[in-house]
Amino acid sequence: MTSNAELREIAATVARRAAAFALQRRQDGVEIAASKSSLSDIVTRADRETEQLVRDALSAARPRDGFLGEESGAGGSESGLTWVVDPIDGTVNYFYGIPAWAVSIAVVEGDPDPATWRTLAGAVVNPVLKETFTASAGDGAHLNGTPIRVNTGVDLELALVGTGFGYDAEVRRRQARFVGELIGDVRDIRRIGAASLDLCSVAAGRLDAYFERGLNPWDHAAGALIAQEAGSRVAGIAGGPADNRLLVAAAPGLFDQLHPRADAFFSAWD
Ligand code: IPD
Ligand code: CA
Repeated sequence: MTSNAELREIAATVARRAAAFALQRRQDGVEIAASKSSLSDIVTRADRETEQLVRDALSAARPRDGFLGEESGAGGSESGLTWVVDPIDGTVNYFYGIPAWAVSIAVVEGDPDPATWRTLAGAVVNPVLKETFTASAGDGAHLNGTPIRVNTGVDLELALVGTGFGYDAEVRRRQARFVGELIGDVRDIRRIGAASLDLCSVAAGRLDAYFERGLNPWDHAAGALIAQEAGSRVAGIAGGPADNRLLVAAAPGLFDQLHPRADAFFSAWD
């Protein structure tokens, strides 16, 4: 049986290759291939090519595992493991040349559904900053091989809190209403533009907390494990597993201050 640490190394190796490829494509010039859920939800040719590269590399290394990717959908698993992949998280940053985008690869056990999966390993690679975040379950989290830990002992009023917004105009208006309530009670808010990097930022102490509604499985699979392995709590509605309704990540004391407020707002959403 392959250990979680070995799976982590596969994730990191493939993510680094894919990130180098996407960076080269960026330097060659970006081309929008299509709009998805709304005009602002773009996919570039590089998103699709990078996902294909990841899919080919993983199926060569792990032919019995399943695949769930943002651009090409799902492929069944014979082994019980599935690779959950965002080829470019932060596509809008990628398009604009803002150096906050990443390749995110995780491997999960069970159905590839955040409600029930168990994440075994993950890697998030930002090739512009030459940063590789990795974790495997029970082994801690690392940035370029050095252990990382969340900030602890930070109260909500002194917390730097990251968040993100969906692509649908009505959804983001509602999301902004919650930010409007919170912004007077925290140090400040950041909207970096890549959920995987927001979670890695919590892991590395660059943010104290992060929350978002509307995440897809590939946005948070790797980053959530990296945050947890660095000492963060990560949970969703009513403290259950994080899903598209809510994800909150922060060290335990701060989590207890932020989560109830996010939970009250977002659980009343539907
Ligand atoms: C998006 C980014 C963004 C978050 C959105 C995601 P994409 O992913 O992670 O920060 O706010 O919810 O959809 O579209 O760039 O892969
Ligand atoms: Ca993406």
